[in-house]
Amino acid sequence: MHALIDRFGRQIEYLRLSVTDRCDLRCAYCIPEGFKDFEEPDHWLTFDELERLIGLFARLGLKRLRLTGGEPLLRRDVVGLAGRLSAIPGLDDLSLSTNATQLARQADDLLAAGVRRLNVSLDSLRPERVEKINGRPVLDKVLEGLRVAKAAGFDLIKINMVAMRENADEIDAMVAYCMEHGFVLRLIEVMPMGDTARKMGYVDLQPVKEQLRERFDLIDTVIPGGGPARYLGTADGRFTVGFITPISQHFCATCNRVRLTVDGVLHMCLGQEDRVELRPLLRSGASDETIIETLLQAIDLKPERHEFNEQPTKLVRFMNMTGG
Ligand code: GTP
Ligand code: 5AD
Ligand code: SF4
Repeated sequence: MHALIDRFGRQIEYLRLSVTDRCDLRCAYCIPEGFKDFEEPDHWLTFDELERLIGLFARLGLKRLRLTGGEPLLRRDVVGLAGRLSAIPGLDDLSLSTNATQLARQADDLLAAGVRRLNVSLDSLRPERVEKINGRPVLDKVLEGLRVAKAAGFDLIKINMVAMRENADEIDAMVAYCMEHGFVLRLIEVMPMGDTARKMGYVDLQPVKEQLRERFDLIDTVIPGGGPARYLGTADGRFTVGFITPISQHFCATCNRVRLTVDGVLHMCLGQEDRVELRPLLRSGASDETIIETLLQAIDLKPERHEFNEQPTKLVRFMNMTGG
């Protein structure tokens, strides 16, 4: 059964679950340095609450689940949570987005728990630049995490590089690194969430896409995933690069996803405020039927599109709340 269809005919099959809003990094486009307004632990949905809620979502047709943050690997026993969620009938794509600082320790257990795909943030291969963009000197740890994850044997590892004025000169180096290791590179246009993100220096990825297409003789291709990336690859399939272009070419007409924050708020769009609070319902003994009814009503609130271009200062929510 697929009941999660919004007012614009879009089927919602993908939930991005933020399991914590905390992070050990301070990426300039995400959490501002000095940010303190983190959610209280009492408000974090428990594993039991998450398992129940996502089970109900799956009954309505949810197929894909991505664990995000903040940094999801900072949530205690996220591996245990992944194991419980991967066993939910109907969910057939469990993935994780991480900054990889804690990945070396957890990669094998995550895979055993049913996480099949990893998306790893990596904006630069230069130590001092990582420290500047991501706020901490973690390049070695991240590369080690990637090395362990590759050896563990995940189905697919994607590298998320947010393209900005600061690192635009490193796109070729990232292409070479991903080719060497068999990772899919994804270039992302920076979204104006908060003042620091607005100052990052936007890079339009359309010309970059056409240059890469020509240089490496790439053709349009499709690879596993539920998100908005559009891919180019070599004919032999050995290298793939994806483009996530919320600013130069938004993809809202094909949006298939909603987001749940650590404190149980369902956000209907990354770029809008439409939301439904699920925690009070979960904590007041609501029946499955009541929760299902609420989820169906929530889907009706999903807005048509973001307005990052028209109203770049409208949104005051930082990315660590909703996990991108
Ligand atoms: P796949 O399942 O591998 O396709 O993952 P994904 O691309 O959905 O997940 P990931 O966490 O790696 O997100 C990559 C980038 O896409 C992040 O910068 C997200 O903020 C951005 N993104 C994902 N969904 C949306 C969306 O609905 N709207 C916008 N504007 N950006 C999105
Ligand atoms: N614009 C674009 N991408 C962002 N991310 C975090 N903040 C932003 C932003 N303002 C990305 C991270 C991570 C993914 C989940 O979201 O780089 O790879
Ligand atoms: Fe942390 Fe990811 Fe935000 Fe960077 S983008 S500060 S790694 S949550």
